Amino acid sequence: MELLIETGALAQAADEAIVVTVFEDAKEFPLSTAAVDTALGGSVRDLLDSGDFKGKRNETALLRTAGKIPAKRVLVVGLGKQADLTMDRTREAIGKAARQLKDMGLKTFTTAIPGDGGSLSAAQQGQAIAEGLILGTYAMDEYRTQKREDIKNLDRATVRTAETNADFEAGFQTGRKIAGGTVLARNLTSRPGNVCTPTMLARTAEELAAESHGVLKTTVFSYEECKTMGMGAFCAVAQGSEEPAKFIVMEYKPANAKGKPVAIIGKGITFDTGGISIKPGAGMEAMKYDMAGSAAVIGAMKALIHLQLPLHVIGIVPSTDNMPSGGAYKPGDVLVSLSGQTIEVVNTDAEGRAVLCDALTYAARTFKPEWMIDLATLTGACVVALGHHAIGMIGTDNALMDTVRSAGDLTGEKVWELPFWDEYQDLLKSDIADMKNSAGRDAGTIAGAVFLGKYVEKTPWVHLDIAGTAWADKDKPYVPKGAVGVGVRLLTEILTRRAEQVSKG
Ligand code: BES
Ligand code: MN
Ligand code: ZN
Repeated sequence: MELLIETGALAQAADEAIVVTVFEDAKEFPLSTAAVDTALGGSVRDLLDSGDFKGKRNETALLRTAGKIPAKRVLVVGLGKQADLTMDRTREAIGKAARQLKDMGLKTFTTAIPGDGGSLSAAQQGQAIAEGLILGTYAMDEYRTQKREDIKNLDRATVRTAETNADFEAGFQTGRKIAGGTVLARNLTSRPGNVCTPTMLARTAEELAAESHGVLKTTVFSYEECKTMGMGAFCAVAQGSEEPAKFIVMEYKPANAKGKPVAIIGKGITFDTGGISIKPGAGMEAMKYDMAGSAAVIGAMKALIHLQLPLHVIGIVPSTDNMPSGGAYKPGDVLVSLSGQTIEVVNTDAEGRAVLCDALTYAARTFKPEWMIDLATLTGACVVALGHHAIGMIGTDNALMDTVRSAGDLTGEKVWELPFWDEYQDLLKSDIADMKNSAGRDAGTIAGAVFLGKYVEKTPWVHLDIAGTAWADKDKPYVPKGAVGVGVRLLTEILTRRAEQVSKG
């Protein structure tokens, strides 16, 4: 899909449709909407007066234009209350409109800045619109055999502004880059376990390095190399699978990088059967998305390369399947992790923490980062606690958690903190080893974090459980049902703020 910005009156756009926005509670229309309403002889006003349409958030209505303007159709989109206009409402309105027109089989449309932008900066408007357009119309078509012509796809979306605005255009380009990283994450996450293997994740990370003009270096360690390094926890999970495991390290360091490195770490279980503690068959196919954390890290790395932030960032992806086999690790096994701490396996389905603990130790010791953030589809308990609307957050650094939370408010990837009190710290006491890998059902998400927390050494750390947010069971305005790509925009926002901070010195 081609994305364009141009100046001119929305009402005069000669595309198949134009999109206008209205607030729920405002007497006046946004300027661009008012002009279209006038050109149509008041049919938008008429629609609201009829009471059939209120302008509620993401409500839509389609009007025919009877030759009064060049476009045949006007899609009216509700923005909700005027005071509530945010970047995320903008993404939603644009994403919802674009997908609706795409699903109708249209090829082109033009819109204006939703609600004229309200108090958002021009850069924020541009970014939110680009993200809404790209993410709202995303589809995973890699496995459809019908002809390309039969797949509904927009050819072009245009945003008309009253006058040229460099900040708006810069924001729009930023949004494209961030959405590009999110699309990569969605593609990786959507792909089934027989396609998206550890080898494929590694190849993707290597391709990013190849196209980065030297700012990204990717190193991939094999199972044997990890074994030699002493990653006994990661290797225990990997030993049951025929599919070669990969421990992927991406180092982003442009010549102008400032500040200490920071590390982002993503769980890369390309399929989680549960291992010997095997999962029930019903719904197990969903466990192809158990690498969503790694997709977020790889997607964020892609966005970083394109945004060229002057930072030193390490991305780490421990990747393997979790399979039952004659060689698989078993309940009762005692593992020696890279840190030297021993782990009693009571449930082989708690594999995420095993692969992550060695990655945390590796990151802390090799790079001495200023902070580490891990993202993982770690616990079903997180889905029980928070459902599909919030990422579960636990960490050791309040300032970093504040940044994560506020970045999530901006990107619409809402984050909710769970407690990490001392009382929880002995959930994982083992009779035989330094810790066991599961405490059963109670406080499952916190127990996972308690485990990981034993591997961060003194590094400030935040754990994000994305089990409930990585996959959408139904359509949302700019998230079509399926892989969400959650975390890419969040990480990018966190890193963008860090770049602003370190360049101030
Ligand atoms: N990948 C799962 C968690 C998960 C569940 C992600 C549902 C997305 C949706 C994870 O590896 C797992 O199996 N966790 C166990 C932990 C338990 C054995 C301590 C769980 O949640 O039951
Ligand atoms: Mn599991
Ligand atoms: Zn898992």
